Amino acid sequence: MTPLVLTVKDVIEEGPLVKTYVFQHGLRSKPGQFVMVWLPGVDEIPMSIGWETDTEFHLTIAEAGDCTKAIHETVKPGDKLGIRGPYGNPFTYKDYKKIILVGGGCGTPPMLNLAQKATKDGLDVTILLGGRTDKHLLFEEKFKSLGCKVHVATDDGSKGHHGYVTDILEKELEKNQYDCVYTCGPELMMQIVVKLAQDFNSCCQVSLERYMKCGFGICGQCCMDNSGLRICKEGPVLDGKRALEHPEFGKYKRNAAGEMEGFDGCKIN
Ligand SMILES: Cc1cc2nc3c(=O)[nH]c(=O)nc-3n(C[C@H](O)[C@H](O)[C@H](O)COP(=O)(O)OP(=O)(O)OC[C@H]3O[C@@H](n4cnc5c(N)ncnc54)[C@H](O)[C@@H]3O)c2cc1C
Ligand code: FES
Repeated sequence: MTPLVLTVKDVIEEGPLVKTYVFQHGLRSKPGQFVMVWLPGVDEIPMSIGWETDTEFHLTIAEAGDCTKAIHETVKPGDKLGIRGPYGNPFTYKDYKKIILVGGGCGTPPMLNLAQKATKDGLDVTILLGGRTDKHLLFEEKFKSLGCKVHVATDDGSKGHHGYVTDILEKELEKNQYDCVYTCGPELMMQIVVKLAQDFNSCCQVSLERYMKCGFGICGQCCMDNSGLRICKEGPVLDGKRALEHPEFGKYKRNAAGEMEGFDGCKIN
């Protein structure tokens, strides 16, 4: 629970307002887990673990507010960040042979971690990547280097399918049988993914984001309405059907003050 103070080995510019921070440290995480990242004097925030080897792990951080902006502006190679974790319930694929992953924007890092581990364990992995433009697509070459089948969709048609990544998921599910669908990205996208998986009788695992403070199940900040399920502990990965049981899934989340907010950041009364 005490942060490890780790030196940033490298910073990679991935695209508009997105940077990857490389740490030389073996985390031994499970796919879909996250760490808490502490920038002293600013904040401590949750981040998914992306690319990972026995001696290195990557965090890919999009500028979304005060802490992420401060990390982008001030943290350079050689600087230090506090890291706690790994935490959370991971993606699982025991006994599966053929799986399909759907990553939207900054939800792609945990999909990369899952693809690394699943391909190493001999699974056949297809990844569908969605982004606003071709510049917002993350890790296409890394997925290819792992031997994954890669399909892309962009909102503006600058690369791949012109439209939503869920359009290509529907076509893939019509053509092929997958043991499970995995997804991380905007919650509205994940809601469609879960419903499509249900329509095609496929199991589905989703990774949710909720406001977190402790990250390990003590403070109650990240509880989902009605069930009290803690996203930092029983999540962030949930079975798709379980996610759908929650009235807030795809509709709203709670901010630091516990108020309801839409995914556009507007308060809901
Ligand atoms: C399990 C998990 C994994 C995540 N993985 C990634 C990732 O790989 N890459 C990435 O770019 N982002 C990731 N996020 C989102 C990231 O934590 C927020 O974007 C970040 O906390 C924003 O902090 P801020 O101070 O810059 O923004 P703020 O100005 O504080 O807020 C901007 C938005 O971020 C959300 N946010 C702020 N603080 C927290 C917090 N402590 N916990 C959860 N949400 C918060 C707010 O609800 C708001 O919608 C993840 C979130 C969770 C819960
Ligand atoms: S963040 Fe404290 S219980 Fe989840």
